[in-house]
Amino acid sequence: MSIYARLTGVGGYLPGQPVSNHDLAARGIDTSDEWIVERTGIRFRHLAAPGETASQMAAIAAGGALDMAGVASANLDLIIVATSTPDYIFPSTACILQGALGNKGATAFDVQAVCSGFIHALAIADKFIRSGSHKKALVVGADVFSRILDWHDRGTCVLFGDGAGAVVLEASEKPGILASALHADGSLVDILSVPGQVRNGKIWGDPFLRMEGHAVFKTAVRVLASVAEECCVAAGIASGDVDWLVPHQANIRIIDATSRKMKLPHEKVVTTVARHGNTSAASVPLALNEAVRDGRIGRGQRVLLEGVGGGFTWGAVLFEF
Ligand code: UT7
Repeated sequence: MSIYARLTGVGGYLPGQPVSNHDLAARGIDTSDEWIVERTGIRFRHLAAPGETASQMAAIAAGGALDMAGVASANLDLIIVATSTPDYIFPSTACILQGALGNKGATAFDVQAVCSGFIHALAIADKFIRSGSHKKALVVGADVFSRILDWHDRGTCVLFGDGAGAVVLEASEKPGILASALHADGSLVDILSVPGQVRNGKIWGDPFLRMEGHAVFKTAVRVLASVAEECCVAAGIASGDVDWLVPHQANIRIIDATSRKMKLPHEKVVTTVARHGNTSAASVPLALNEAVRDGRIGRGQRVLLEGVGGGFTWGAVLFEF
């Protein structure tokens, strides 16, 4: 009998009040609501309070997912956090989260694949569960990109927001994750990066997010459509048989181009980019959390999640809810 990794809980957390495009312009950024909406679809984002960390946001999102699943944190045997804005250089944000949740003994580690980090973490957790080695996993995407934005670079600072999203996966005879696909192309490191590090107590290089917007846009559209197809083929279904697409929420034009290529109508695509902005590793689980909690995604439906981010990395996970 096959063992599946079945999603039994979802959770999400967005810090503070929504910050509008008008608010950003009022703070002195040389931009406009019109430009941001037209180029990206973003109207609002949430920004963490000073001192609010990825692990703190992750703990709130995890609490929601654990409650929905009816799983006690002590019973988790796997905790994976996807983040590019960890609390510390080490230990991992997953271990800090584990301590906050009061779990001892679970396998816990971070995954670094930037905006596709949650997809990578979910696919890894699926493999742990299907191997039989683990039974109850918490997978979290949490990022505080506001800390790594250059607020003088209008080409990037208006695009991102902060937040965390989480899912609980449990071993089950019922499906479950049906297929996943993960890829990277390290020749594209420089199109989206934070090219800095701490050396001998000082920042070396550049500690802010730098992006070649056009190159990222074009690459994202190309790889997202192909990885969606790859995942559907692996599961033996046509892309038209997907009930819901929950894509990375970076730009509504990227989302529209991908769903057009997949021939999926708007009604089957979950979008939160207008209200969340790009929350990096949190974007997919935050959107999933909303669509499950408001009843759009129901049991038995097929859901395709996909992500793309710095590295360049990309991937997709197809599951039956
Ligand atoms: O998780 C993956 C992360 N990233 C992405 O998915 C982003 C992918 N890229 C994009 O979404 C788009 O490339 C952007 C939204 C970043 C930019 O859109 P674009 O249509 O490619 O604009 P552009 O970079 O060609 O800029 C057009 C103009 C420029 O002015 P000039 O040179 O034509 O006078 C920019 O200086 O828009 C200007 N501009 C702005 N104006 C007002 C750039 N940023 C802003 C801004 N407000 N915030």
